[in-house]
Amino acid sequence: MSDAPKIAIRGLKKSFGAKSVLKGIDLDVRQGSSLVVIGGSGTGKSVLLKCVLGIIQPDAGEILIDGDNLLKLSAFDRRRRAREIGMLFQGSALFDSLSVWENVAFRLIHGEGKSRREAREKAIECLAKVGLAADVGALQPAELSGGMQKRVALARAIAADPNILFFDEPTTGLDPITADVINRLII
Ligand SMILES: Nc1ncnc2c1ncn2[C@@H]1O[C@H](COP(=O)(O)OP(=O)(O)OP(=O)(O)O)[C@@H](O)[C@H]1O
Ligand SMILES: [Mg+2]
Repeated sequence: MSDAPKIAIRGLKKSFGAKSVLKGIDLDVRQGSSLVVIGGSGTGKSVLLKCVLGIIQPDAGEILIDGDNLLKLSAFDRRRRAREIGMLFQGSALFDSLSVWENVAFRLIHGEGKSRREAREKAIECLAKVGLAADVGALQPAELSGGMQKRVALARAIAADPNILFFDEPTTGLDPITADVINRLII
C-alpha cells in the first residue's frame, strides 16, 4: 500500500461574500487514523467537511483522496468518490418524511439501487449495531429522542460500509451519559 495520506487537503479556501471562512487549510489524514478538528462556533468546521463531501465548492486549494484531487474530477466521478464517505451531519439531518429505516437505507436505495427488502435488512442490521431494536425502524424521526436520532444518524452514516467516516458534532447537546454511548459507538 502506498504511503500517501488517505485524505490530504492543501491550501483550501472558501469565502461567503466578504467573509473569508477557510483561509488556506492544510491537513493530512492517514489510513486507519482519526483526526479531530476543534474550533469555536462559526469558524468553518462544518464548511470544511462539506467541501470534502462536495456539498460546498471551495474557491481554491486541493482535496486529495488516495492521491486523486476531487476538485479536478468530473461531477460524475466526484459523486462516485464521495460514496466512499459516510457522514453524520450536525443536528443529525434526518429526513422527517421518511421512517427511521428508510433514513438509514436512503443511500442504499437511491444511490446503490438496492431493493427495498435488501436495504431494509441492512438498515435493521445497522440499527442493531447502534443499539436500536428493529421496531424502531418503523418509527418517524420525530418520535425519537435526541440521542436516538443521533444513533439513527450514525447507523445511516455506516450503512453503505464507507471507508471514511465524518462526524460533525456527533454528541453536541446530548447529556453526558448519552454522549458517552455515542462516543463508544463511534470507536
Ligand atoms: N452556505 C453558506 N452560505 C453562507 N455562509 C455560510 C454557509 N455555510 C456556512 N456559512 C458561514 O461560514 C461560517 C462557518 O460556518 P460553519 O457552519 O462551518 O461553522 P462551524 O465551525 O461548523 O460552527 P459550529 O461549531 O457552530 O457548528 C459561518 O460564519 C457561517 O455563517
Ligand atoms: Mg458546524
